[in-house]
Amino acid sequence: MQRTLILLKPDCVQRRLMGEVISRFEAKGLNFVAMKLMRVTPELAKKHYAEHVEKEWYPTLELFITGAPVLAAVVEGLDVISVVRSMLGATSGLKAEPGTIRGDFSSSRQMNLVHGSDGPEAAEREIHLYFSQEELLDFEPTITPWVR
Ligand code: TYD
Ligand code: MG
Repeated sequence: MQRTLILLKPDCVQRRLMGEVISRFEAKGLNFVAMKLMRVTPELAKKHYAEHVEKEWYPTLELFITGAPVLAAVVEGLDVISVVRSMLGATSGLKAEPGTIRGDFSSSRQMNLVHGSDGPEAAEREIHLYFSQEELLDFEPTITPWVR
C-alpha cells in the first residue's frame, strides 16, 4: 500500500466539484485516511511548490492556491501515486484526455482542480507538509468489517 497527497484546489471547492472528485476516488477503491478543509498560506505554498517558486508563473499560482480554501486529503491504495496522477490527467485541462478529472472539468493550465503528488519522495514530503502523524488514520475498522 502506498499513500499520496491530494488537494482539491480553490477552483474545485468554488465550483462545488468536491463531491464529484471524491466520488471518483472512492469508486476507484482508494482509501481516504486523512482529510481537512484549510487555507494554504503563502509560506506553505512556497514549500509545496518549491520546485516552481522561480518560474515566471509562480506568483499567479500562489495567488490562486491561497485565494480560497482547499480540501487536503491523504489517500492510500496499491500504486496510488500513479493511479491518482492518471485519474487527474495532464497538467493543463486543455491537454488532459476526456475521462480524466482535469480533462472532464478544467479548461485551464493553472486552474486544474486537483493536485496529486508526482512520486514517492514528493508524496512523503507533501503529506507531512499538510498533516501531522496523528491526523493520518488507519482505514481498516477494528470491529468485524460490515462490507465484504
Ligand atoms: P506541475 O508540477 O508542472 O504540474 P502538476 O500539478 O500536473 O504536477 O505544476 C504545478 C502547478 O502549477 C500545476 O498544477 C498548475 C500550475 N502551472 C501554472 O500555473 N502554469 C504553468 O505553466 C504550469 C506548467 C503549471
Ligand atoms: Mg507537479
